[in-house]
Amino acid sequence: MRILSGIQPSGALHLGNYFGMMRPAIELQEKGEAFYFIADYHSMTSLFDANERRKNTLDVALDFLACGLDPKRSVFFKQSDVPEVCELSWLLSTLTPMSLLEKSHSYKDKIAKGIPVNHGLFAYPVLMAADILIYDSNIVPVGQDQKQHVEITRDIAIKFNEQYGQTFVIPEPQIRESVAKVPGIDGEKMSKSYGNTIEIFGDEKALRKKVMALKMDSRQPAEPKPDADQNLAIQLLKVIDAGVGKEWEEKLRAGGLGYGDLKKKLFEVYWEYFAAARQKRAELSANLDFVNQVLADGAAKARGKAREVLQRARKASGLE
Ligand code: ADP
Ligand code: TRP
Repeated sequence: MRILSGIQPSGALHLGNYFGMMRPAIELQEKGEAFYFIADYHSMTSLFDANERRKNTLDVALDFLACGLDPKRSVFFKQSDVPEVCELSWLLSTLTPMSLLEKSHSYKDKIAKGIPVNHGLFAYPVLMAADILIYDSNIVPVGQDQKQHVEITRDIAIKFNEQYGQTFVIPEPQIRESVAKVPGIDGEKMSKSYGNTIEIFGDEKALRKKVMALKMDSRQPAEPKPDADQNLAIQLLKVIDAGVGKEWEEKLRAGGLGYGDLKKKLFEVYWEYFAAARQKRAELSANLDFVNQVLADGAAKARGKAREVLQRARKASGLE
């Protein structure tokens, strides 16, 4: 079974990325052959600073390895080291109805926000389909916001198979309901593009400040809070540690717990949770040759598979 996922090098890793995608992906490396990549081509649709892309790409590599991606088990690589995906993306685009892409939430959201959209952004789901199909992927672990993209991938693959004969494996998204949409510090979906993130790696003081600044209501500590499950700090605590989260939810519900103490607890649990990863990341940062070698080895393996599937698609469609 092939498991595949990608993450864009578009900014610092946050709790939503980690619990929504990275942790499930890392757990799945035990279940089959996992391919994980840094979606640097995709980042070009919204990030236009070359040096920042280089830096972010290295950061994602460090983040993923520090969080437990095991390069002995999984194939870890940079998307652009397998340029074959661009060719497959073209083949797929010719069978992709415009209307399918016009329905894409992420594209519509950008338009609604008045962000100038480029053709790459419109074609984003086609490149994502190529990423998935070129490795014969069965399972794609992602957060809720990527579900539609995997559905578009399925539609395109089915269409190609119908038109040119059985060529592609039809993939399934895998979404963990409990962490499908981790809320940010404003209560909306946590996202780099909304500036509402709590990062995994960063300066302790600044991150503590962010957590302590979470907005709460003005009710007194003594007051019971029947709506404790709606509290943002409780929701985040539950994402990090369901047991502790539940326990503190009951405390808050009963009354007698102040929001300051709750936020302190949240920070403590969060900081402790990533202590080992932080240590590992510092070690990896001092050994970049190792990190670059992992990506080079991963690219060689991924490219072998990509060439095989691309050739299948070229033959099926009469290019060969
Ligand atoms: P962002 O929205 O911060 O730019 P990405 O688009 O890079 O995040 O997402 C990388 C992965 O993390 C995707 O699989 C996405 O579904 C997941 N993800 C991002 N934000 C969240 C969130 N708030 N809750 C759950 N999963 C998330
Ligand atoms: N679009 C995904 C995101 O922003 C990143 C991505 C690109 C991806 N290609 C992929 C995820 C293929 C899963 C499979 O999070």
